[in-house]
Amino acid sequence: MKRILVTGGAGFIGSNFVRHLLLNRPDYDVIVLDKLTYAGNLENLKDVQDNPHYQFVHGDICDVNIVQQTAEGVDAIVNFAAETHVDRSLLEPGAFINTDVYGTYVLLEAVKKLGIERFVQISTDEVYGSVEEGSSVETDQLAPRSPYAASKAAADLMVNAYRTSFGLPTVITRASNNFGPYQYPEKVIPLFVTNALDDQPLPLYGDGLNVRDWLYVGDHCEAIDLVLHKGEPGEVYNVGGGNERTNIELTGMILDLLGKPQSLIKHVTDRPGHDRRYSLNCAKLAALGWQPRHRFEEAMAQTVRWYVENEWWWRKLKSGEYADYYNRNYGHRRTL
Ligand code: NAD
Ligand code: TYD
Repeated sequence: MKRILVTGGAGFIGSNFVRHLLLNRPDYDVIVLDKLTYAGNLENLKDVQDNPHYQFVHGDICDVNIVQQTAEGVDAIVNFAAETHVDRSLLEPGAFINTDVYGTYVLLEAVKKLGIERFVQISTDEVYGSVEEGSSVETDQLAPRSPYAASKAAADLMVNAYRTSFGLPTVITRASNNFGPYQYPEKVIPLFVTNALDDQPLPLYGDGLNVRDWLYVGDHCEAIDLVLHKGEPGEVYNVGGGNERTNIELTGMILDLLGKPQSLIKHVTDRPGHDRRYSLNCAKLAALGWQPRHRFEEAMAQTVRWYVENEWWWRKLKSGEYADYYNRNYGHRRTL
């Protein structure tokens, strides 16, 4: 494998993965295809823009022509491109169906037509729905509950259908909540860190007892690299950090790391349909040879420090469209 197409590579995880590939696979050529939506940002890739093994193509994965042109001659596609924020999927679900479902279909067609050796679909633990007890295994029934999760689940089913019907060399990863540098400040960790830095309230949904399993993005990139090279065609692999925390625990940790008071926490009206807990069993990926290498406390401290030191990156993202979204999502919420 030498030429990899990374769709959605200008987003949070995609840009970290591009950096990972260029560093760890220096003979590979990496092509990014990205629409540069509100969440896509070329500044996420600023440090690699002059690397001769990196190329950027501005385009939509729903555009058949651009996808077929860009995918011509690549050995693999890793698909990160998606609308990704649950709260936005409650406000505007249409964009999720277009990109996450139809866009994935366009990519699968290109894999079929061009005979591409490998297609990795980056999916999420949210497709399993809320898990009150125990942990999800890859064969569990999908039970998505938000428009975001339903779109991702539909894409997973389409990927598997193309595997079954046409024998495409597909692999799916289902990761838990990621954190790390370059995460758009609508997601809870960068949102709370940057709000706290400005002494603004942290809008914690409901009782704050919802549980997420936190995965450092660098560990996720290593898992994707492994699955890209060693994953069994047709298989699905869970990728979890093994760090289940309630949102209130996570928020307290952020405030402690920043030396800010707990009084910044503001319990507000819950997210409709808010999944209580996600939890993954990752034995299958462990058998392939992956374990997360980062300790949660250290990776969180490092991540929080990154936002403290990189205000140039996030400050300008928090105006314009973001301010409008913030008002639509948070303006009507009551303090509990
Ligand atoms: P992100 O929102 O930061 O980035 C998404 C990227 O996709 C952006 O660069 C955006 O411009 C691009 N994009 C959106 N629509 C596009 C289109 N139609 N054509 C081309 N590019 C398009 O997302 P992220 O957090 O980096 O997530 C990446 C992938 O990982 C997604 O598929 C997501 O479902 C999955 N995932 C994310 C998490 C997480 O915690 N962030 C966890 C598990 C899985
Ligand atoms: P988020 O980062 O949106 O990821 P996801 O919904 O995909 O898990 O949210 C993580 C958790 O934080 C989730 O339980 C919702 C909660 N949350 C808040 O309490 N307040 C907020 O403002 C946001 C964005 C999230």
